[in-house]
Amino acid sequence: MTDQHSTTNTPLEYSTSSAALGRHAADRLIVALDLPDARSVRQFLPRMEGQCKWLKVGLELFIAAGPSMVAELTGSGYSVFLDLKLHDIPNTVASAVKSASSLGASLLTLHAGGGPQMLHSALEAATSMPQAPTLLAVTVLTSMNAQQLHATGVTQQPSEQVETLARMGLAVGMRGFVCSAEETTRLRSICGAETTLVVPGIRPAGATLGDQQRVATPADALQRGASFLVVGRPIVQAVDPAAATAAILAEMTAAMQL
Ligand code: C5P
Repeated sequence: MTDQHSTTNTPLEYSTSSAALGRHAADRLIVALDLPDARSVRQFLPRMEGQCKWLKVGLELFIAAGPSMVAELTGSGYSVFLDLKLHDIPNTVASAVKSASSLGASLLTLHAGGGPQMLHSALEAATSMPQAPTLLAVTVLTSMNAQQLHATGVTQQPSEQVETLARMGLAVGMRGFVCSAEETTRLRSICGAETTLVVPGIRPAGATLGDQQRVATPADALQRGASFLVVGRPIVQAVDPAAATAAILAEMTAAMQL
């Protein structure tokens, strides 16, 4: 049971092994299916020509297509990153983690900003479930720069706030974080090799940034210590998604051999 009244959080034994990462670039590339519905996904996936293993289901798709979308993707052999960015009171998030655990996703996000008790309750819920996804705490969104962050009342720089949130998460047992490439070297040194660091805001050289602020190329993010890269629009909105994916995988492969 989640104890909402406890004021201290004993770290939970809840680990995820970054060392277990596959050696191929495709094992470390997550394609964000930021698409409006299941039909769009079914039309899109053949255009990838079987090059990707990991797919991210975010809010847009999950709200439209629901849990059956996750089952459909895992049933087709994909590993699924369920990016729901949970942020609520500890009891509600713990219950949501339990509900999500039955869907078959491998990774699930929640906002570190929910605080240590929320993270602890979520970890406790995951530990109690037989097939829970690895929990990832989102630190500071890659779309936030210093100005955006300051507007929310946080006076630290994004890199400092990422470190604050990661240290808070580590203290309660969290072993997976989402951060930008700019903070990855620092977080890797703080968190160690076993922690999963998932890095969005990936843009091949010359690609449009869109709303992303803290960005890096695929090679740069891997060299800084990212476990997984998340790429959405540069692939999903490409004229030729298979060619775009192949180029990113080739860049990743080269970086992994350095
Ligand atoms: O299209 P783009 O490559 O910018 O997509 C990035 C994806 O990663 C989006 O689905 C977004 O929701 C997700 N994401 C992010 N920043 C985070 C966490 C997740 O951009 N901190």
